[in-house]
Amino acid sequence: RTVAVVLAGGTGTRVGLGIPKQLLKIAGKPILEHTITVFESAPEIDEIIVLMAPGFLTEARQIVDKAGFRKVSQVIEGGDTRNATTRLALAAIGPDDCNVLFHDAVRPLLSPRIVRECVNALWTYSAVDVAIPSADTIIQVDEDDCITDIPVRSRLRRGQTPQAFRSGTIRAAYALAAEDPEFSATDDCGVVLRYLPEVPIKVIEGSDENIKVTHPVDVHLADKLFQLAAAQAPRLVDERAYVEELSGRTVVVFGG
Ligand code: CTP
Repeated sequence: RTVAVVLAGGTGTRVGLGIPKQLLKIAGKPILEHTITVFESAPEIDEIIVLMAPGFLTEARQIVDKAGFRKVSQVIEGGDTRNATTRLALAAIGPDDCNVLFHDAVRPLLSPRIVRECVNALWTYSAVDVAIPSADTIIQVDEDDCITDIPVRSRLRRGQTPQAFRSGTIRAAYALAAEDPEFSATDDCGVVLRYLPEVPIKVIEGSDENIKVTHPVDVHLADKLFQLAAAQAPRLVDERAYVEELSGRTVVVFGG
């Protein structure tokens, strides 16, 4: 069994609109609906669990009912932090061994190719991350905003989601984290890296389109990316052709 967990427990303070950003409509549908659609349509996914920001369960359940998603088994409340939401998801999945993919609800442009490669990689690895190379040089700074290090760019990646695990591995990592008063992490691979350092975490290539809607500008960008995808869908041969088309058009979008 492979379960997709849609992490929608945040409130989106950086977008700052007074409703969780996963409920914003882009290209005619709430972001959350776009994201669930990717997993609903993926043959590799058997079940979907949605963890929603407290106070917005009704809205999330309405989206699921209206769209008629058949794989969604539970829509439940998330926790105070992203990691707390992950813990609640692990409890909701139940004790059986399975594959689990944790995905940010606010990455609605996830491609079927990435889902497929994550699930395939779980045949060999028990932890899988998705990342892309960084076009920008990444610098490390101290508390006074002075540079302390400039790591070699070719070895750096920007982490995306999904992050995929065999359930036993992610459960074991979170069990060790629960005993650590110093625990802090922003993602789930970070928990495995810290508490189960012997476990290799395979990285598969993400995509530039798999953006995380974080700031107001991202809402417009995601909307444009959906429009472009819809306009070009009939001409899509494969993802590479799509990316080439898209990058050609993106220049026009930003320049115009
Ligand atoms: N998330 C979650 N539970 C939380 C916090 C975040 O499930 N307690 C989810 C968000 O809903 C989002 C993903 O984790 O899909 C990535 O988090 P982020 O972009 O930081 O979302 P928010 O916490 O909503 O945004 P902000 O930090 O601007 O408040």
